[in-house]
Amino acid sequence: MKPIIAPSVLASDFANLQTEVEMLNESQADWLHIDIMDGRFVPNISFGFPVLQAIQRHAKKPLDVHLMIVEPELYIEQFREAGAEIISVHLEACNHLHRTIQQIKTTGAKAGIALNPHTSVQLLDDVIADVDLVCLMSVNPGFGGQKFIENTYRKIEALKNLIIARNSKALIEIDGGVNQQNAPLLLEKGADALVAGSFVFNSTDPLQTIANLKNQA
Ligand code: DX5
Ligand code: ZN
Repeated sequence: MKPIIAPSVLASDFANLQTEVEMLNESQADWLHIDIMDGRFVPNISFGFPVLQAIQRHAKKPLDVHLMIVEPELYIEQFREAGAEIISVHLEACNHLHRTIQQIKTTGAKAGIALNPHTSVQLLDDVIADVDLVCLMSVNPGFGGQKFIENTYRKIEALKNLIIARNSKALIEIDGGVNQQNAPLLLEKGADALVAGSFVFNSTDPLQTIANLKNQA
């Protein structure tokens, strides 16, 4: 099975957002990964609803929205209305994670949980059967262009075992520092979806880079 490729718009040229989104439309990307940062959960601020709506106006592919914000339950419906197909919240940001997962599903969006590098996948034991996606952060969230954390491979294996044990249909998404070098082993360990920001947008031929990620052996 070919992996799901989700280029991260965070690394795109915001002054030419329409052109960038149209490039992704033409590419072999499956989803557009959208990083929302609030300056509270993570030490950086990205963009909010007006920019997301502008992306949605041009995007022909599902928007995979990664919320790096505190109290995400306050904004779930608004993100859905702004075009999110998949909404991922951070386990570390949710006091009532089970309730927030149900809230996301009620909007009709797919529900994802993101985990920081230090958070054990075992904490998902009681909710894994309810979620559509787990986003394993392979960098500390907040910035694009960081170095991939090698411990991620071990986490994928543990998460895969948990998914099988609990008969879950959750997809495993890897986010941060993904490139052509680490992608094969990530897929071998069990990743279903790869997010790639700087590796795609800093390359000389983003269309080809996306195709290479999509079609590796
Ligand atoms: C990090 C974000 C990532 C980031 C990935 O906080 O969640 O999605 O945009 O960027 P790269 O691929 O450059 O690490
Ligand atoms: Zn992300």
